[in-house]
Amino acid sequence: MTDRLTIRRPDDWHLHFRDGAVMRDVVPYTARQFGRAVVMPNLTPPVTTTALAAAYRDRILAAVPEGVSFTPLMTCYLTDTTDADDLARGAADGVFTAAKMYPANATTNSAAGVSNIENLYPVLARMEAEDIVLCIHGEVTEAQIDVFDREKEFIDRHLRAIVATFPKLRVVFEHITTSDAVDFVMESGPQVAATITPQHLHINRNAMLVGGIQPHNYCLPVAKRESHRLALRAAATGGSGKFFLGTDSAPHLKRDKESACGCAGIFGAPYALESYLTVFDEEGALDLFEGFASLHGPAFYKLPVNEGEVTLERAEVAVPPVLHVTGEEIVPWHGGATIGWRFVG
Ligand code: DOR
Ligand code: ZN
Repeated sequence: MTDRLTIRRPDDWHLHFRDGAVMRDVVPYTARQFGRAVVMPNLTPPVTTTALAAAYRDRILAAVPEGVSFTPLMTCYLTDTTDADDLARGAADGVFTAAKMYPANATTNSAAGVSNIENLYPVLARMEAEDIVLCIHGEVTEAQIDVFDREKEFIDRHLRAIVATFPKLRVVFEHITTSDAVDFVMESGPQVAATITPQHLHINRNAMLVGGIQPHNYCLPVAKRESHRLALRAAATGGSGKFFLGTDSAPHLKRDKESACGCAGIFGAPYALESYLTVFDEEGALDLFEGFASLHGPAFYKLPVNEGEVTLERAEVAVPPVLHVTGEEIVPWHGGATIGWRFVG
């Protein structure tokens, strides 16, 4: 049995750092494990311009602990009025690594998202021409569409058309939650890939609703039924370069999760690698972990792999039930549970 695993330093291809004091307290968790992270732009106000992204990047870098090497990769929040020239300039200058499309009101701080996807097509054409990666939150938002069907509906109504209309546009289907998404990505060309979160590999929708409402298992897109979880596990641990690590770590304070209208998001950063590795271990795929965590993402984004390595070892690790950011309680993913791997460094 393998009890110790050393891999090339990994990256997190999707997370939320927030801003201000919360950001300063959460950045070190990610910088400890990952060489780079794709930072989502859903702040208030959203990160819609090169100037805003450059300033946000500086604030993140100021929160990286002394002696730690970590690079935030910035994204542009697409809106109905995105300035394609500014986006192209920001990408050419190395400020933007990608642009993120939120359908308006799909999730946290997405009110300024895209209200009509077809209206964004001129921007997508420019992104295709400039080879800028499009990250997509793939859920429709119509009130009559069941929350468990929103990802599949998005594929059928929008994603197929986007991929067909812009065949060279590189698209990351973010935090996929369904077998439909796995199938779509597998059937598409090499320009289409997906991130997968740890929570969608570990839990199905029962974890939100059985034995009482479980707000710490609530995120968007919501976890789906067991057959979908199994499809995601097969995709993540199957060795395909189309799937890579993206925690969607989304810190919300404990009291904001445990309220009458609990926030969507799971704070996955503190034990991220341990969480994913547990899944690869259970699936007998430890040898494929490095690809998922450290190699597939850079290949898709056309970036070099990181220098350096990280090591994990088999050990019983008790995850604290709460951590603290800005002096307030926050519940980490796996909080209060025991996991079978330890991050050594
Ligand atoms: O659960 C989520 N939380 N899903 C998202 O898409 C956004 C995120 C957040 O920013 O809190
Ligand atoms: Zn996200």
